[in-house]
Amino acid sequence: MVIFFSGTGNSEYCARYIASIIGDEVIDSAVYIRSKQIAQLCSEKPWVFVTPTYSWQIPRVFKSFLRQSSLSGNKNAYFVMTCGGSIGGAASGILALCREKGLHFKGVAPIVMPENLITMFKAPPQEEADRIVQKAVPDIEKAAKLISEGRAFEKTKYNFLGFLESELSNPLFYKAAIKPEKFFSTDECIGCGLCSRKCVMGNITLKDAKPVWGSNCTQCMACIACCPKQAIEYGKSTKGKTRYYCKPFVKN
Ligand SMILES: Cc1cc2nc3c(=O)[nH]c(=O)nc-3n(C[C@H](O)[C@H](O)[C@H](O)COP(=O)(O)O)c2cc1C
Repeated sequence: MVIFFSGTGNSEYCARYIASIIGDEVIDSAVYIRSKQIAQLCSEKPWVFVTPTYSWQIPRVFKSFLRQSSLSGNKNAYFVMTCGGSIGGAASGILALCREKGLHFKGVAPIVMPENLITMFKAPPQEEADRIVQKAVPDIEKAAKLISEGRAFEKTKYNFLGFLESELSNPLFYKAAIKPEKFFSTDECIGCGLCSRKCVMGNITLKDAKPVWGSNCTQCMACIACCPKQAIEYGKSTKGKTRYYCKPFVKN
């Protein structure tokens, strides 16, 4: 079973691509996360978890989703992490999570996809984003091949920098960078509610046809990226920046 978490579609794209090769079903973890429902899942085939990288780790919300879920059947677990550049030392935390869940860790495959964190960085323009996705295809296909052959992913390097990024910077990032109160909609907002429907946390409600953000945000960028009018901003840091949302995976 392929289970994904995705804010702006990169991880969903990889999940659906892999599932189409290995012939397995796909589950969107947001269905459970939004409804605060505990997942009770059983898979005959290996588990494949596809997720973005948040400050060199898997997103906390996805980690707690996995912690709470009942995952029975096959014991092998593959992790695929999409990232804008690097997953740092994420593998060590995932290994610990697998031990906790009684799963057999089959490795983590980093897949470089377009950057989406526009509150801090820039997202690539569409043509460049398309090129990055095309460049990722061989890595996605390689991961799928290893999964279908039951082989482990290559070991990712774990060095001191990875430790600093994943173990030390990550808690600082969550404390300092995730501030939902900085999101606001501009006069361009047409009140379509897409941001609310796309929010993986169910954190956006509409009041007088305008989005209102609650405190339960993981800064996945879905709201700001999906807005058809580019009417969502995050303080002053997103003004004038390209929004990035991955095109859906289409099977050839
Ligand atoms: C909150 C947040 C933190 C991120 N941290 C990292 C990071 O540490 N390293 C990295 O390479 N990319 C990082 N990124 C970029 C995303 O991991 C990358 O664009 C990913 O493919 C987005 O996946 P999605 O479209 O499925 O949400 C971060 C993005 C967000 C939103």
